[in-house]
Amino acid sequence: MARRHITLKDPSRFKDPAGLTWERYIALQARERERYLAERAAIPADALAFRSVSPRYLERAVEQFANNFFPEEAATRYIATAAARAPFEELKRCCLFQLADEQRHMEMDRDVFERAGIAERDWLPAWEQPGTTCRFFRHVLELDDPIEILVKANFVAEGAAGPATFAVLADGAEARGDLLSAVNHRARVRDETRHISYARALVKALIDEDPSNLEVVQRWQDESLQLFVEVAKGGARRAWWDGFLASYYKIALPLGLRPSPLG
Ligand SMILES: [Fe+2]
Ligand SMILES: [Fe+2]
Repeated sequence: MARRHITLKDPSRFKDPAGLTWERYIALQARERERYLAERAAIPADALAFRSVSPRYLERAVEQFANNFFPEEAATRYIATAAARAPFEELKRCCLFQLADEQRHMEMDRDVFERAGIAERDWLPAWEQPGTTCRFFRHVLELDDPIEILVKANFVAEGAAGPATFAVLADGAEARGDLLSAVNHRARVRDETRHISYARALVKALIDEDPSNLEVVQRWQDESLQLFVEVAKGGARRAWWDGFLASYYKIALPLGLRPSPLG
C-alpha cells in the first residue's frame, strides 16, 4: 500500500534558508508594510478608484481578482493548519511567519475588489466557475498533514506560480492602468519567494534522509498539477501554463522528481 504520510525523523536536517528569528521577521514585516503603503500612496487617485481602466478590463478582471484573493484566503487557513500541526519548531516558525504574510496578501486583494466596486456577492461565483484555481485550493484546505500541505501548496503550487508569473501579472495590470494590482503583485512576490525556498529545503531534507520519500512527493506533485490542468483552459492559456510548469520543474527536477503525466 502506498504511504500517505512522511515526516522528517531528524529535524536538524531542516534549516530555514532565510535564517529568520521572530525579531528579524517582525522588522521585515514592518518594513514591507511601510514600503507597500508608500507605493500605494504614490498611485494617482483616479487609478486607485479604478477610473483609469476600461469597463471591459474590469469585466474580465473579476476572475483574476478572485484568483488572487481566494488563494490568499486559502493560504491563510491551510498554513495555520500546517503551523498548528508542524512536527518541529523550526518548521512551525516558518509557517507562522508565512501566516502573517498571507494574511497581509489577502487584505491587499480585498482592497482591490472593494476599490474596483465589485459587489462581494460576485466574488465567490467568479472563483467557483470552471477554469479557476478553486479545485486545487479546496483540495489543500481538506488536508491535515502539515508535510503534505507544504509540499503541495508551497513547493508545487507556489513554486509553479513563481516570481515569473507574478511579474507577468504585474506588468499586464500596469499596462491596462490597474496600478494597484501591479503594486500588490510586486509586494506579494517578495514573500512568496521565501515560502518556496523553505518548502524546497524541506523537500530536499526529506529526500536526503530517506530516498523512498521521493515517491510520495512525486505522487503529491502529480495530484497537485492535475488539479491545475483545467486552469490552462484547453490551451487558451498556453503561454501561462508553459511558464507555470517550467518554473516548477526548474526547482523540482534537480531534486530527482519527474514531470507529471497530465491528462
Ligand atoms: Fe500569498
Ligand atoms: Fe505564499
